[in-house]
Amino acid sequence: MSDAQITYGTGHGAWNNYHTELLELVERLGVKNICEVGGGANPALPLEFIVARGITYTVLDISQEELDKAPEGYAKVRADICDGTSLPSSAFDFIFTKMLAEHVPSGEHFHRNVLRMLSPGGYAFHYFPTLFALPFVVNRIFPEALTAAALSRLAPRDKVKQGKFPALYSWCFGPSRRQINRLHSVGFQVVRYKGLFGAEAYYRRIPFGSAVSKLFRALMLRFPVPQLTAFSQVLLQKPVVQGAA
Ligand SMILES: C[S@@+](CC[C@H](N)C(=O)[O-])C[C@H]1O[C@@H](n2cnc3c(N)ncnc32)[C@H](O)[C@@H]1O
Repeated sequence: MSDAQITYGTGHGAWNNYHTELLELVERLGVKNICEVGGGANPALPLEFIVARGITYTVLDISQEELDKAPEGYAKVRADICDGTSLPSSAFDFIFTKMLAEHVPSGEHFHRNVLRMLSPGGYAFHYFPTLFALPFVVNRIFPEALTAAALSRLAPRDKVKQGKFPALYSWCFGPSRRQINRLHSVGFQVVRYKGLFGAEAYYRRIPFGSAVSKLFRALMLRFPVPQLTAFSQVLLQKPVVQGAA
Protein backbone atom coordinates (compact mmCIF):
# COMPACT_ATOMS: atom_id res chain seq x y z
CA MET A 1 0.00 0.00 0.00
CA SER A 2 1.48 3.40 -0.92
CA ASP A 3 0.08 6.26 1.15
CA ALA A 4 3.17 8.46 1.09
CA GLN A 5 3.59 11.67 -0.84
CA ILE A 6 7.23 11.52 -1.96
CA THR A 7 9.12 14.68 -2.92
CA TYR A 8 12.76 15.70 -3.34
CA GLY A 9 14.72 18.83 -2.50
CA THR A 10 18.16 20.06 -1.49
CA GLY A 11 19.94 19.42 1.79
CA HIS A 12 20.90 23.08 2.29
CA GLY A 13 17.37 24.34 1.46
CA ALA A 14 15.85 22.03 4.08
CA TRP A 15 18.48 23.01 6.67
CA ASN A 16 17.93 26.76 6.14
CA ASN A 17 14.13 26.50 6.24
CA TYR A 18 13.85 23.87 8.96
CA HIS A 19 12.76 26.06 11.87
CA THR A 20 10.23 28.08 9.83
CA GLU A 21 8.74 24.88 8.38
CA LEU A 22 8.64 23.18 11.78
CA LEU A 23 6.71 26.08 13.34
CA GLU A 24 4.33 26.17 10.34
CA LEU A 25 3.74 22.42 10.68
CA VAL A 26 2.99 22.70 14.41
CA GLU A 27 0.50 25.50 13.69
CA ARG A 28 -1.11 23.74 10.74
CA LEU A 29 -1.60 20.46 12.64
CA GLY A 30 -2.88 22.38 15.68
CA VAL A 31 -0.97 20.05 18.04
CA LYS A 32 -0.70 20.99 21.72
CA ASN A 33 1.20 18.20 23.44
CA ILE A 34 4.67 17.99 21.94
CA CYS A 35 7.79 15.96 22.67
CA GLU A 36 11.15 16.55 21.02
CA VAL A 37 13.29 13.42 21.29
CA GLY A 38 17.05 14.06 21.29
CA GLY A 39 16.49 17.81 21.67
CA GLY A 40 19.52 17.84 23.99
CA ALA A 41 21.38 21.13 24.10
CA ASN A 42 19.26 22.77 21.39
CA PRO A 43 15.47 22.44 21.74
CA ALA A 44 14.03 23.40 18.35
CA LEU A 45 10.86 25.19 19.49
CA PRO A 46 11.41 28.63 21.05
CA LEU A 47 9.95 29.14 24.54
CA GLU A 48 8.00 32.25 23.40
CA PHE A 49 6.34 30.19 20.64
CA ILE A 50 5.12 27.43 22.96
CA VAL A 51 4.01 29.82 25.71
CA ALA A 52 2.06 32.02 23.27
CA ARG A 53 0.18 28.98 21.90
CA GLY A 54 -0.46 27.16 25.16
CA ILE A 55 1.67 24.20 24.05
CA THR A 56 3.09 21.64 26.47
CA TYR A 57 6.60 20.84 25.25
CA THR A 58 8.86 18.12 26.66
CA VAL A 59 12.49 17.79 25.62
CA LEU A 60 13.56 14.16 26.04
CA ASP A 61 17.20 13.11 25.78
CA ILE A 62 19.39 10.22 26.89
CA SER A 63 22.06 12.59 28.18
CA GLN A 64 21.60 14.74 31.28
CA GLU A 65 24.75 16.61 30.31
CA GLU A 66 23.17 17.66 27.00
CA LEU A 67 19.85 18.57 28.65
CA ASP A 68 21.72 20.76 31.14
CA LYS A 69 23.15 22.81 28.26
CA ALA A 70 19.62 23.72 27.08
CA PRO A 71 18.22 27.03 28.37
CA GLU A 72 16.17 27.15 31.58
CA GLY A 73 12.40 27.06 31.19
CA TYR A 74 12.08 23.86 29.14
CA ALA A 75 10.53 20.69 30.62
CA LYS A 76 13.40 18.19 30.35
CA VAL A 77 13.22 14.42 30.72
CA ARG A 78 16.21 12.08 30.71
CA ALA A 79 15.27 8.83 28.96
CA ASP A 80 16.45 6.47 26.24
CA ILE A 81 14.00 6.44 23.32
CA CYS A 82 14.98 2.81 22.64
CA ASP A 83 14.06 1.68 26.17
CA GLY A 84 10.28 1.31 26.14
CA THR A 85 10.08 0.66 29.90
CA SER A 86 10.89 4.27 30.82
CA LEU A 87 8.59 6.00 28.30
CA PRO A 88 4.97 7.19 28.70
CA SER A 89 2.18 5.78 26.48
CA SER A 90 -0.26 7.86 24.37
CA ALA A 91 1.09 11.03 25.95
CA PHE A 92 1.74 13.31 22.95
CA ASP A 93 0.00 14.40 19.75
CA PHE A 94 3.28 15.42 18.07
CA ILE A 95 6.75 13.91 18.50
CA PHE A 96 9.66 15.19 16.47
CA THR A 97 13.40 14.68 16.15
CA LYS A 98 16.22 16.60 14.50
CA MET A 99 19.49 14.75 13.95
CA LEU A 100 18.59 12.02 16.47
CA ALA A 101 17.54 9.02 14.37
CA GLU A 102 21.07 8.27 13.14
CA HIS A 103 22.31 7.82 16.74
CA VAL A 104 19.91 5.16 17.99
CA PRO A 105 21.05 1.52 17.94
CA SER A 106 17.71 0.26 16.58
CA GLY A 107 15.51 2.19 14.16
CA GLU A 108 12.78 -0.36 14.75
CA HIS A 109 12.71 0.15 18.55
CA PHE A 110 12.92 3.90 18.08
CA HIS A 111 9.89 4.06 15.75
CA ARG A 112 7.89 1.52 17.79
CA ASN A 113 8.42 3.54 20.97
CA VAL A 114 7.51 6.81 19.28
CA LEU A 115 4.31 5.15 17.98
CA ARG A 116 3.46 4.02 21.52
CA MET A 117 4.08 7.49 22.95
CA LEU A 118 1.68 9.08 20.45
CA SER A 119 -2.04 9.38 20.99
CA PRO A 120 -4.18 7.87 18.19
CA GLY A 121 -4.13 10.21 15.18
CA GLY A 122 -0.92 11.86 16.47
CA TYR A 123 2.03 12.77 14.23
CA ALA A 124 5.77 12.09 14.22
CA PHE A 125 8.18 14.24 12.21
CA HIS A 126 11.83 13.26 11.78
CA TYR A 127 14.78 15.00 10.14
CA PHE A 128 17.93 12.90 9.77
CA PRO A 129 20.98 12.17 7.60
CA THR A 130 20.74 9.14 5.34
CA LEU A 131 22.81 6.38 3.82
CA PHE A 132 24.24 6.05 1.23
CA ALA A 133 25.52 9.63 1.06
CA LEU A 134 29.31 9.44 1.01
CA PRO A 135 30.09 11.50 4.17
CA PHE A 136 27.71 9.34 6.22
CA VAL A 137 28.95 6.05 4.77
CA VAL A 138 32.45 7.17 5.84
CA ASN A 139 31.12 8.18 9.28
CA ARG A 140 29.45 4.78 9.64
CA ILE A 141 32.46 2.70 8.59
CA PHE A 142 35.47 4.44 10.12
CA PRO A 143 36.34 4.64 13.86
CA GLU A 144 34.80 7.50 15.84
CA ALA A 145 38.19 9.12 16.67
CA LEU A 146 39.06 9.33 12.97
CA THR A 147 35.69 10.71 11.82
CA ALA A 148 35.63 13.23 14.70
CA ALA A 149 39.05 14.53 13.61
CA ALA A 150 37.93 14.66 9.96
CA LEU A 151 34.75 16.52 10.90
CA SER A 152 36.59 19.20 12.85
CA ARG A 153 38.81 19.81 9.78
CA LEU A 154 36.12 19.64 7.09
CA ALA A 155 33.11 21.18 8.86
CA PRO A 156 34.21 22.73 12.18
CA ARG A 157 31.47 23.56 14.70
CA ASP A 158 30.84 24.63 18.30
CA LYS A 159 31.88 21.51 20.25
CA VAL A 160 29.73 22.35 23.29
CA LYS A 161 26.38 23.10 21.60
CA GLN A 162 26.98 20.89 18.54
CA GLY A 163 28.76 17.83 19.93
CA LYS A 164 29.56 14.80 17.79
CA PHE A 165 27.78 11.61 18.81
CA PRO A 166 28.48 8.12 17.40
CA ALA A 167 26.15 7.47 14.46
CA LEU A 168 24.78 4.07 13.41
CA TYR A 169 22.19 5.09 10.75
CA SER A 170 19.76 2.27 11.62
CA TRP A 171 16.68 2.79 9.38
CA CYS A 172 18.17 6.07 8.13
CA PHE A 173 17.37 5.97 4.43
CA GLY A 174 15.65 8.07 1.81
CA PRO A 175 12.11 7.39 0.53
CA SER A 176 12.76 3.94 -0.96
CA ARG A 177 9.93 1.40 -1.11
CA ARG A 178 11.79 -0.75 1.41
CA GLN A 179 12.13 2.11 3.88
CA ILE A 180 8.44 3.02 3.59
CA ASN A 181 7.55 -0.64 4.17
CA ARG A 182 9.68 -0.63 7.35
CA LEU A 183 7.66 2.29 8.71
CA HIS A 184 4.38 0.58 7.75
CA SER A 185 5.58 -2.59 9.49
CA VAL A 186 5.71 -0.81 12.88
CA GLY A 187 2.21 0.59 12.33
CA PHE A 188 2.71 4.11 10.93
CA GLN A 189 0.98 5.75 8.01
CA VAL A 190 3.57 7.60 5.96
CA VAL A 191 2.03 11.00 5.18
CA ARG A 192 4.96 12.53 3.30
CA TYR A 193 8.60 11.69 2.75
CA LYS A 194 11.07 14.23 1.45
CA GLY A 195 14.43 13.03 0.17
CA LEU A 196 17.16 15.68 0.23
CA PHE A 197 20.24 15.66 -1.97
CA GLY A 198 23.58 17.30 -1.25
CA ALA A 199 25.73 17.59 1.86
CA GLU A 200 27.89 20.48 0.65
CA ALA A 201 29.00 21.47 4.16
CA TYR A 202 31.27 18.41 4.17
CA TYR A 203 32.86 19.13 0.78
CA ARG A 204 33.66 22.85 1.05
CA ARG A 205 37.25 22.35 2.19
CA ILE A 206 38.05 19.63 -0.35
CA PRO A 207 39.49 20.87 -3.68
CA PHE A 208 36.70 20.70 -6.32
CA GLY A 209 34.50 19.06 -3.64
CA SER A 210 31.77 21.71 -3.78
CA ALA A 211 31.65 21.72 -7.58
CA VAL A 212 31.41 17.93 -7.85
CA SER A 213 28.83 17.77 -5.07
CA LYS A 214 26.67 20.46 -6.72
CA LEU A 215 26.80 18.63 -10.03
CA PHE A 216 25.75 15.39 -8.39
CA ARG A 217 22.94 17.18 -6.55
CA ALA A 218 21.63 18.70 -9.80
CA LEU A 219 21.69 15.28 -11.46
CA MET A 220 19.83 13.67 -8.55
CA LEU A 221 17.15 16.38 -8.50
CA ARG A 222 16.50 15.57 -12.15
CA PHE A 223 16.69 11.78 -11.82
CA PRO A 224 16.12 11.05 -8.11
CA VAL A 225 17.57 7.87 -6.61
CA PRO A 226 16.11 7.43 -3.08
CA GLN A 227 19.12 5.35 -1.99
CA LEU A 228 21.44 8.33 -2.63
CA THR A 229 19.79 11.07 -0.58
CA ALA A 230 21.92 12.79 2.07
CA PHE A 231 19.07 13.74 4.41
CA SER A 232 15.36 13.09 4.74
CA GLN A 233 12.32 14.53 6.45
CA VAL A 234 9.39 12.25 7.10
CA LEU A 235 5.94 12.98 8.46
CA LEU A 236 4.22 9.92 9.96
CA GLN A 237 0.79 9.45 11.50
CA LYS A 238 -0.38 6.95 14.08
CA PRO A 239 -3.66 5.52 12.77
CA VAL A 240 -6.73 6.40 14.82
CA VAL A 241 -7.66 2.72 14.80
CA GLN A 242 -4.61 0.51 15.51
CA GLY A 243 -3.80 -1.99 12.79
CA ALA A 244 -5.26 0.36 10.15
CA ALA A 245 -1.83 1.28 8.73
C1 LIG B 1 23.37 15.35 17.17
S1 LIG B 1 22.56 15.67 18.69
C2 LIG B 1 21.18 16.62 18.14
C3 LIG B 1 20.71 17.60 19.15
C4 LIG B 1 19.64 18.58 18.64
N1 LIG B 1 18.46 17.87 18.18
C5 LIG B 1 20.21 19.43 17.54
O1 LIG B 1 19.76 19.29 16.39
O2 LIG B 1 21.09 20.25 17.82
C6 LIG B 1 21.82 14.11 19.09
C7 LIG B 1 21.11 14.10 20.43
O3 LIG B 1 20.44 12.85 20.57
C8 LIG B 1 20.61 12.38 21.89
N2 LIG B 1 20.42 10.91 21.88
C9 LIG B 1 21.24 9.98 21.33
N3 LIG B 1 20.74 8.75 21.51
C10 LIG B 1 19.56 8.91 22.17
C11 LIG B 1 18.56 8.00 22.67
N4 LIG B 1 18.71 6.67 22.51
N5 LIG B 1 17.47 8.49 23.30
C12 LIG B 1 17.32 9.84 23.48
N6 LIG B 1 18.24 10.74 23.04
C13 LIG B 1 19.34 10.29 22.40
C14 LIG B 1 22.02 12.84 22.27
O4 LIG B 1 22.25 12.85 23.65
C15 LIG B 1 22.04 14.24 21.62
O5 LIG B 1 21.56 15.22 22.49
